[in-house]
Amino acid sequence: MKKAKAIPVPPPPGYLEEWRATNNTCLVTGATDGIGRALAIRLADAGQTLVIVGRSKEKVSAVLKDVGDAGPHHSHRGFVADLSLISEVDRLADEISQKLPNLSRIVLCAAETPGFRGITGEGIEAGFAVNYLSRFQLLSKITPLLKDQSAPRVVSFASPVTKFELPDLNILNDPDCELDSWDRGRAHTNCNLLFLMELADQLKDTDICINAFGPGLVLTKQMQGYSAMRRFWLGMKSSLVGKSAPYAALPAMHMLLSPDFAGKTGGFYECGTKIPPDTQILSKEIRQQFWTETTQLVHLAQANKG
Ligand SMILES: NC(=O)c1ccc[n+]([C@@H]2O[C@H](COP(=O)([O-])OP(=O)(O)OC[C@H]3O[C@@H](n4cnc5c(N)ncnc54)[C@H](OP(=O)(O)O)[C@@H]3O)[C@@H](O)[C@H]2O)c1
Repeated sequence: MKKAKAIPVPPPPGYLEEWRATNNTCLVTGATDGIGRALAIRLADAGQTLVIVGRSKEKVSAVLKDVGDAGPHHSHRGFVADLSLISEVDRLADEISQKLPNLSRIVLCAAETPGFRGITGEGIEAGFAVNYLSRFQLLSKITPLLKDQSAPRVVSFASPVTKFELPDLNILNDPDCELDSWDRGRAHTNCNLLFLMELADQLKDTDICINAFGPGLVLTKQMQGYSAMRRFWLGMKSSLVGKSAPYAALPAMHMLLSPDFAGKTGGFYECGTKIPPDTQILSKEIRQQFWTETTQLVHLAQANKG
């Protein structure tokens, strides 16, 4: 028997009218390209107020215009921050806390193209900082703001079908580490899954819902960081099962806006399907140890800021 989907994709008829009757302030990181950009435009079209985050002022302005065209009835905002730097994440979190008192939806989409992206002045590998550490720090810092909202939701892009192996944070930050782009990306995803499960658990007595979402295979600039062989294989696979970015964004919209998702937290979703977490992710002891190590890295980055 075919397994029932946790999320109807495409959404049932009438969904847009239902979502347009709401107006949540939604922050999307990585909103200047790929799925994040598509999601921001779709959310604006669905009547939401958008706050987009990108590292390029020009790209933020361009997407802000597209978002305004799609959702002309609300006033949308853009923030520029380089998420490879914890000092920038801290600044962004402070600005958000001051300027966005109604922020109730967060989408963590920003990702550096796969591979070693160099060590930042804060002593952290840049790709690791964007893909994982910035998410940890941003959510940690804006949790007090989220606690003030009615039923806030967080969706973090991290594919739960990724094979689980306990990540080693020292290896990921070692400039001589020989992990290839694929294994490095996998490790970043596993960092996010461990962290999201722990955060959802820590916040289970609040109204805040935190879930992980994997969009499946979408041909975006993420593919550029892989070897020629891997790109060929992904291209072949994509021609069979790949989705466009606007289509891939639909289940995430459902997780953010649909009443069906009210109160659902700590779930891992790949496209429309709920995925059971690996047993190691379910271990509180492993998650807490990982949380402690991550906090130490954040402190290291803050100390290195100089
Ligand atoms: N595509 C897939 O098949 C796939 C599969 C599984 C999971 N995912 C996940 O889905 C999410 C979206 O992926 P995508 O394919 O849409 O990626 P993408 O097209 O490469 O877009 C990545 C976004 O992150 C931003 N970004 C990168 N480095 C940054 C930095 N230092 N500071 C701030 N923003 C930064 C990029 O900004 P610029 O516009 O300035 O470059 C861009 O807006 C990611 O989390 C990815 O890991 C994707």
